[in-house]
Amino acid sequence: MSERIPDEQEYNFTVVKWFSIAAVLYLIVGALVGDFIAWELAFPELNLDNPYISFGRLRPLHTNAVIFAFGGSTLMATSYYIVQRTCHVSLWSNKLAWFTFWGWNAIIVGAVVSFPLGLTQGKEYAELIWPIDVLIAVVWLTYMFNFVMTIVNRRVSHIYVANWFFLSMMVMITILHVVNSLAVPVTLTHSYSIYSGVHDAMIQWWWGHNAVGFFLTAGFLGIMYYFVPKQANRPVFSYRLSVLHFWALSFGYVWLGAHHLQYTALPDWTGSLGAAVSMAMIIPSWGGAINGVMTLSGAWNKLRDDYVLRFLVVSLAFYAMSTFEGPVMSIKTVNALSHYTDWTIGHVHSGALGWVAMVSIGAIYHMVTKLWGKDIYSVSLVNTHFWIHTIGTIIYICAMWVSGIMQGLMWRATDDYGNLVYTFAETVSAMHPYYVLRSVGGFLVLLGAILMLYNIVKTISGARQPATAAVAAKA
Ligand code: HEM
Ligand code: HEM
Repeated sequence: MSERIPDEQEYNFTVVKWFSIAAVLYLIVGALVGDFIAWELAFPELNLDNPYISFGRLRPLHTNAVIFAFGGSTLMATSYYIVQRTCHVSLWSNKLAWFTFWGWNAIIVGAVVSFPLGLTQGKEYAELIWPIDVLIAVVWLTYMFNFVMTIVNRRVSHIYVANWFFLSMMVMITILHVVNSLAVPVTLTHSYSIYSGVHDAMIQWWWGHNAVGFFLTAGFLGIMYYFVPKQANRPVFSYRLSVLHFWALSFGYVWLGAHHLQYTALPDWTGSLGAAVSMAMIIPSWGGAINGVMTLSGAWNKLRDDYVLRFLVVSLAFYAMSTFEGPVMSIKTVNALSHYTDWTIGHVHSGALGWVAMVSIGAIYHMVTKLWGKDIYSVSLVNTHFWIHTIGTIIYICAMWVSGIMQGLMWRATDDYGNLVYTFAETVSAMHPYYVLRSVGGFLVLLGAILMLYNIVKTISGARQPATAAVAAKA
């Protein structure tokens, strides 16, 4: 095994560049649709009586756009980047990498067309109709094959921990996607799941939770383990802890799905098992978050002016927060209050906007400067983005926490005679101010993403920051 580090030009970075730009565009699209449906919840008349833009049809478009289009493109960009740099070798096949780029985008176009038309399998995060499911399996397997072969070809003996996290995501998502999507097609757009009743629910939430655990967590931890040390210019705090984090997470997460199905037709013990393992998951999750944050030991001062590092570190704070909140919500008595309410939506977005989006944004800013070999056009715009995104996220999740807990308490409130105190309509109208607040928070996040695109386009086109240009002109 030769240890020679290849020149930058030898790596296949064009596909990484395209995936990075696609990720930023999809973040904007996903946030735009998310914010529109948020306003629709506050002001239902915004659907203009048009079925194509109704909440029910646009909601899966939002979730698929942010998770699979934005999240997926970020994961593919970063994993192709990291595997080459840490294995000191170019991608095993550039052609296959391009196939994954065009294939993944074809899937996204499929979602954009099929959801507004009302074509869906009705399984959350697995709504896409069966022909698109088949394409997902093909593209995903190609991605995994290319990644594994690149590792096999590596020029260093060691496999860096980030690659382990990506591998775990790839293997698990293949199994989960294929098993959950097994169906009998009856027409080109319609099929019946091979599961029924509680089995269907159990398989669906085994997939659903692990889409969170392996797609939105393991993959993004791979990103964290590479970009935090890189941006801080320090080695990871404890490599041993990262290995423990990896194994505990990979073996623990798969048992949690039943916590989405408390108080349903599922046997009671399955929910208790889901809750018990969920509680145990605080340990590896916090171990990982602490490992990331402690990587900054001795370099805390960098946080003062390195805004990219701020994105990465604050994402870890949100990761720690959501992985504490999730286990608490899995406890049956807490879930009795939180389930079906906006509390869940608050939890989702503290993970999604706080953890997933922030770690991705930090990684993309870092990669753009390296990939194009240019300084960022405007550091102050990155700073503005950081604050807009953070404030928007906090407004969003606080609004949902308050409205969720209020909603749960109003639903269960009874008077001395055991009658419900509030009608359902009263609880809906009580949510209104919080829905408006959430939409404002979402708008800030969207605005931040647009600033990011502007900054990146200016960086790539080689424009100079106005302040820098002025200094140069004086000199
Ligand atoms: C501008 C930013 C965003 C806004 C305004 C927004 C808004 C929304 C709204 C209104 C819903 C539906 C809530 C409901 O059914 O009551 C939703 C659901 C969801 N969003 Fe977002 N979102 C944003 C960003 C994101 C991002 C970046 C992600 C993931 C990376 C994400 C993931 C999800 C998920 C997974 C759900 C479904 C939650 C559930 O079923 O419990 N969102 N979002
Ligand atoms: C140890 C970590 C975690 C545990 C134990 C956990 C647990 C939970 C629980 C109990 C629920 C509510 C289920 C219900 O009442 O239906 C939930 C919902 C959810 N969580 Fe987490 N969570 C964790 C971390 C995260 C993270 C980091 C994210 C995002 C990146 C996330 C995303 C979601 C989503 C999208 C849902 C909504 C699913 C749906 O109903 O559509 N979770 N989680």
